[in-house]
Amino acid sequence: MSGQYKAPKGTHDILPPEARAWQRLETIVRSVMDRFGYEEIRTPIFEETTLFARSVGETTDIVKKEMYTFTDKKGRSLTLRPEGTAPAVRAFVEHHLGRGARLTKLFYVGPMFRYERPQAGRFRQFHQFGAEAIGSADPEIDVDVIALFVRVLEETGIAGLSVALNSVGDANCRPLHVAAIREALASHKDALCPDCKERLERNPLRILDCKVPACRGLAARIPPATDFLCDACRAHHAAVEAGLAALGVVFRLDKNLVRGIDYYTRTAFEIHHGALGAQNALGGGGRYDGLVAELGGAPTPGIGFAAGMERILTVLGEAPARPRGVVAVLPLGAAEEAAARRLLYELRRVAPAEIVAGDAGLGKKLRAANEMGARFAVILGEDEVRAGRPLLKDMETGEQTPMSEPEIIARVAAVAPPPTKESS
Ligand code: HAM
Repeated sequence: MSGQYKAPKGTHDILPPEARAWQRLETIVRSVMDRFGYEEIRTPIFEETTLFARSVGETTDIVKKEMYTFTDKKGRSLTLRPEGTAPAVRAFVEHHLGRGARLTKLFYVGPMFRYERPQAGRFRQFHQFGAEAIGSADPEIDVDVIALFVRVLEETGIAGLSVALNSVGDANCRPLHVAAIREALASHKDALCPDCKERLERNPLRILDCKVPACRGLAARIPPATDFLCDACRAHHAAVEAGLAALGVVFRLDKNLVRGIDYYTRTAFEIHHGALGAQNALGGGGRYDGLVAELGGAPTPGIGFAAGMERILTVLGEAPARPRGVVAVLPLGAAEEAAARRLLYELRRVAPAEIVAGDAGLGKKLRAANEMGARFAVILGEDEVRAGRPLLKDMETGEQTPMSEPEIIARVAAVAPPPTKESS
């Protein structure tokens, strides 16, 4: 019987062996973010709907088709966050996080929601980790952010990454690009889908994002943004390339790289992995020099990225085995059980520990200890309890030594990994 209810379409339960892989990834993310000087921000799961319409863009697929929007009891329109940048920037403005700081570096990890057609690598509830560096227009910050993303992925052990880099220009040069797109498509308007006809008027860049085959064919006629960059954007782009090359971060220029969100200016990038097929972006990001002002703050440049955690874990494959480090406490009879349970409670200060109680003989209990991957067994018979010296058995060497309880705890603590840390 599998029951009447299933997790909603496009969502997943993360079950115990898999949850270990998630913990390992989160541990790596937090560790690398810390070394690069990013601090965690946790924003609400839902926000005012207009926050996303203003930032992600009214004409994007995310805002037009994919938001989980609902009205609360007071008639406010709220939306489950489809991404983390707008909430982070909203919080940056609301709490004046930039006050007195040259650069504010934030990271986040958590669920995002997009009403998309579920398929491999595309879900309705998915998880991102991301970083936002707000306060500097220096191209070295772009380099630092891209290098940070690469470093996280490298530390997970993923090989075969491909970093794609582009520039989408800024408010200065984008009008030229937009005019060129309108010109290139003017005589093909009738072949565009109804959405793209509207996009041609309101936001022609979005045509590059359309999935309708006819529009994809026409998108090939659209000249790339890099053909229209102003001098400042061109210099910025060149400095980012030089900075990445200086760090030895391998990347390729991709003039056709467009992102599905409107707030980007200048640098846009994605990291891909061959194993993922059509949905092969492990993550992406870029600069958003107009976003802070758009959301009501003082004009402040920013750049960031977000990565899809399900996609990264798919590439990584099998969850790591549970680390050995468990201590098995083995009372030989019912009379020793109370003492064994007391010791178990103490051992759990320093290591994962389990008890093997019941009537079975020592051999069977040792086998059970082995099966649970125990690094140590602590054997309590009548004599050991009376003397206050249980036997500590090292399951790797087979060596057995009577020890006092404090000695046992010290020995286990020295060898076992700390209980809250995942070994990688
Ligand atoms: P995005 O490209 O929309 O950018 O999403 C980043 C990553 O999230 C994608 O590359 C993908 O790995 C993952 N992702 C997106 N949608 C789904 C989905 N439906 N199912 C599974 N994974 C998905 C952003 O979200 C920007 N906020 C990134 C950013 C940060 N730009 C500047 N700062």
